[in-house]
Amino acid sequence: MITKEQLTANIPEHVAIIMDGNGRWAKKQGFFRAVGHENGTKAVREVVEGAVDARIKYLTLYAFSTENWKRPKLEIEALMKILVNSLKKEAPTFHKNQIRLNAIGNLDALPKKAKKELFEVIESTKEYRRMTLTLALSYGSREELIKTIQEISIKVKNSVISPHLINEEVINEHLYTSGLPDVDLLIRTSGEQRISNFLLWQIAYAELYFTDILWPDFKRTHLFEAIYNYQQRERRFGKTSEQLS
Ligand code: IPE
Ligand code: IPE
Ligand code: MG
Repeated sequence: MITKEQLTANIPEHVAIIMDGNGRWAKKQGFFRAVGHENGTKAVREVVEGAVDARIKYLTLYAFSTENWKRPKLEIEALMKILVNSLKKEAPTFHKNQIRLNAIGNLDALPKKAKKELFEVIESTKEYRRMTLTLALSYGSREELIKTIQEISIKVKNSVISPHLINEEVINEHLYTSGLPDVDLLIRTSGEQRISNFLLWQIAYAELYFTDILWPDFKRTHLFEAIYNYQQRERRFGKTSEQLS
């Protein structure tokens, strides 16, 4: 078992997690899928507090994808209700730990109540800087890239920017993730080894970590294990190993 004391130097600045496996966790015990989502919120609390303990500055959680709108209506309703309730319940944790809440995605697609609750917590935590917790809600990377291209195109059309000045920085500024650094470590639970339309641009040089643990079973020690694993890797960014040392 890895403890936070073992994770001294070289902490990833930005950790992103694809929280997967709630449905299978519930099915395994003969429960409705919604029970899995409900129990998934316990794992969210574990990683949020664990990330603060590990001194991670940016934690981004994939909570609901643009594709998840294709799920049965009842499951979507349950998920949105769980979102509202857990935002209410977790707000004190954010204040206690000085966590700034942030959200990315097509937030206008969320039910009114969820949106209201979300913006209230975002507003009340906006001064905190110990950690930025970003929830990806109704988020899809391709949708984000389309929105970005549209916004930049309008600026080109209105002569606000000239095409040859479009660079990585300009694109970063127009993404939902504007202001967040690139992802250093991407974790996915439940044994699936795919990206599912999450942060395609932002994970260009992220280290990927897959674990078979189902999301509701994910504890802070699993987060520490992923960070420890990350710390054993050599990030070369195209260079040779010799150039780094
Ligand atoms: C992740 O768990 C939660 C969301 C996608 C909202 P799933 O609901 O995808 O669980 P599995 O993959 O069916 O086990
Ligand atoms: C990805 O999980 C989205 C979230 C974790 C919110 P899914 O369970 O929706 O992914 P796929 O469809 O199996 O790839
Ligand atoms: Mg899934």
